[in-house]
Amino acid sequence: MTELVLTEKQNHLLVVRINRPDRKNALTHAMYTALGDAVQQAHDDADIRCLLFTGSAECFTAGNDLSDFAAGLPGDFEETPVGRFLFLLATATKPVVAAVNGPAVGIGTTMLLHCDLVFAGNNTRFQMPFANLGLCPEGGSSLLLPSWIGRVRAAELLMLGGAFTAEDAHRLGLINRVCEPTETETTALDACQQLAAQAPAAIRATKELLNRPTVNELKETMLTEGKRFGERLKSPEAAEAFKAFMEKRKPDFSKFH
Ligand code: COA
Repeated sequence: MTELVLTEKQNHLLVVRINRPDRKNALTHAMYTALGDAVQQAHDDADIRCLLFTGSAECFTAGNDLSDFAAGLPGDFEETPVGRFLFLLATATKPVVAAVNGPAVGIGTTMLLHCDLVFAGNNTRFQMPFANLGLCPEGGSSLLLPSWIGRVRAAELLMLGGAFTAEDAHRLGLINRVCEPTETETTALDACQQLAAQAPAAIRATKELLNRPTVNELKETMLTEGKRFGERLKSPEAAEAFKAFMEKRKPDFSKFH
């Protein structure tokens, strides 16, 4: 079986590649476990100074696998593979870089809020369609987005749930640079090499200080979001949205109050 998450150590860098092209890199529980393991590996290995998340030139990730969503969360959020991954990522002490192209949906956008540098191809389509799926924000997005881009812009992205471009994301201050899709990864790798060449304790101190203002509130928010998300997954609204996706039609929320 092809590995759906590939990890490769390159000098002081750990490259983590999402690799499920036939499903637009949609993330299953097992893939979240592998992603969490990679963050843990980067933390534990003193030789690793930087972590890079990427997919392909065509696709970062279509977000959570919708069949897994339909089955609900296996346990309390923070103990699920996705919860473990998000908490490990949000509390990572070493720099994390992302190179994204094509779809970057759901957690494919929210996980980037925990990356230090983000490079996106001009073919990237960011989207947080949680409400569209009868769900609610996750990954700390309900805290970080309004404080970074403003309340009304966050509400637009999270309530209307429409896709937005790399140019939009750049304007909003959510990514560092817009690249040609074939150059996103090399641009990110170059930044990783620069980070790896910096004084490692100085970089860790910088990261800690950048995160400090929100660190406690972020944990609390992610727990609350996770609880609410688990409830929403069991809701009739979400059931209708998942059924609609499988049937390749728009969901009909007209009967809900
Ligand atoms: N979970 C499970 N399967 C998914 C998936 C997901 N999140 N995203 C895509 N797939 C599957 C599709 O069902 C399709 O399968 P099929 O070939 O058996 O029909 C295959 O991957 C290719 O996707 P497709 O929709 O044909 O590609 P596209 O280029 O037209 O559109 C997206 C790409 C990402 C815009 C679209 O697939 C999409 O909206 N996916 C759902 C995203 C989502 O809502 N994620 C959850 C966020 S919280």
